[in-house]
Amino acid sequence: MKRLAIFISGRGSNLEAILDQVAGGVLAGRCVVTLVFTDNPAAPGLAIARRRQVTTVAIDARSMRRFDFDAVLAELLERVRPDLIALAGYMRIVPPELVRRYRIVNIHPADTARHRGLHGYRWAFEQRLPTTTITVHWVDEGLDTGPVIARRVVNLAGADSEAEVERRGLAVEHHLYPIILAQLLTDADSVDARGADARAHDRRGGN
Ligand code: GAR
Repeated sequence: MKRLAIFISGRGSNLEAILDQVAGGVLAGRCVVTLVFTDNPAAPGLAIARRRQVTTVAIDARSMRRFDFDAVLAELLERVRPDLIALAGYMRIVPPELVRRYRIVNIHPADTARHRGLHGYRWAFEQRLPTTTITVHWVDEGLDTGPVIARRVVNLAGADSEAEVERRGLAVEHHLYPIILAQLLTDADSVDARGADARAHDRRGGN
């Protein structure tokens, strides 16, 4: 059984979707969630994990220097030894040592070639985009810059509020992310697959 760690900073709706699929869906029998980690002890998503009896660790990023935070996190992961780390609304740059050491994926509520960082749905709404694109990508040392694993287009026709854009986007996120995680946890050669992704990314010149 593969070991999955999930990192969150806030609401945790993707976390919940993943845990649902571990309990009885595409992720059942493929992995155990060995850790839910957060940099924000007030993250509402923590309660979701606790209700499901998943181990949670919260380290308040504001309470310590970056160097110390990164060291504590590295030590924690040495103990947990995840096969895969899924960022699910984790709003902090992952330190380069961890990016090199672990397989880490992220879900982003926009096309990462067009919008990175926060407020992807607000951006789509303010631009009045007819569609937006949910992206699952490998985490590299940048902000939402790693090689793309999967993309799904969300139809925004008639979406007349940011909340509606977000509602449609999250429905796609919640469906897509567990499926992609299941694939990544299943591929025996997924490390090679990552290499291939990264090489393709390099050939494109990165971003
Ligand atoms: C999700 O929309 C996720 O794609 C986004 O944060 C939200 C977290 O919601 N992530 C990013 O913007 C990463 N750059 P959740 O806590 O309910 O899963």
